[in-house]
Amino acid sequence: MSAPYRSRLQARMEEAKHMKEEEKQYRYNGILYPTIMCPPENLKALESMEAREDDVMLVAYPKCGFNWMVGVMRKIMAAAAGKTEESKMPPIIEFFTPEMQKVLSEAPSPRFLGTHLHPTNIPGSFTAKKSKMLVVFRNPKDTAVSFYHFSNKNPGLPTPESWDKFYSEFMSGDVIWGSYFDHALAWEKRINDPDVMIVTYEYLKENLSEGVRQVSKFFNFTLSEEQILTIARDSTFNAMKESSKGSHGQMSDVFFRKGEVGDWKNHFSEAQSKEMDDEFEKRLAGTKLAAKLKYNLYCK
Ligand code: A3P
Repeated sequence: MSAPYRSRLQARMEEAKHMKEEEKQYRYNGILYPTIMCPPENLKALESMEAREDDVMLVAYPKCGFNWMVGVMRKIMAAAAGKTEESKMPPIIEFFTPEMQKVLSEAPSPRFLGTHLHPTNIPGSFTAKKSKMLVVFRNPKDTAVSFYHFSNKNPGLPTPESWDKFYSEFMSGDVIWGSYFDHALAWEKRINDPDVMIVTYEYLKENLSEGVRQVSKFFNFTLSEEQILTIARDSTFNAMKESSKGSHGQMSDVFFRKGEVGDWKNHFSEAQSKEMDDEFEKRLAGTKLAAKLKYNLYCK
């Protein structure tokens, strides 16, 4: 994380301590966003953002493994360019102030960008320019659990009253960046788009070096076999948690919490698990994304 960005973030987190819980999030076009990180002027300015054909865009619903893939993509891009990894700043476009967005418009290509935005709210120019997008998904049960812990530990977000309350909000889509199921259904429509690659957290856990190989190929970055294996080795949960201690400080344990598949079993009641199974069946059964998510394997 760059020093000015980190101090701005720290100042904002200080500001959060004096905010009422209900002020920590607000709605923009019907969707909740975190006030501190993502004020309305950022979202407004994004509407006119100009994408480029060679932008490298990473998209993920919150807690699906975004920061993991940020680390992987930075390593891929650095290795392909023969450089060492530089910025640690999160590349989330909706966190960029209008001034930062101006700086970004002059940044050299290829730009590495990311977002948690619902696909219909991603600036239209990304689709018009056919910028490539890597989309990361995770099974909804582990996503909800990870989201709950993150909301508990992040001073910039409203603290959930309880797991049960948070679970209900997750199910109704009353969480920041909106409904998991709405995001999933919107990406299902683009799953065969040649500019879109969808990968799952669970696949990456089981096949990290293959994942690195596929992602590099998708973005046309040429890497040697040795570079691929090195990136995979340096991107395991333990390796990233360790190296984030310098860059993320106290937030390291928050971003790199447990890194496992199946922690939902320690949180979901039987009734919640059944309700999620029914919702998944109702909304996503039979879709290509559902097949990728392997719900029966990871969520039952
Ligand atoms: P848990 O809370 O289940 O541990 P995001 O970056 O989208 O906010 O996602 C955060 C989740 O990704 C957290 O899940 C975090 O631990 C996990 N994660 C981060 N880096 C990882 C890695 N290298 N391998 C596996 N999981 C990782």
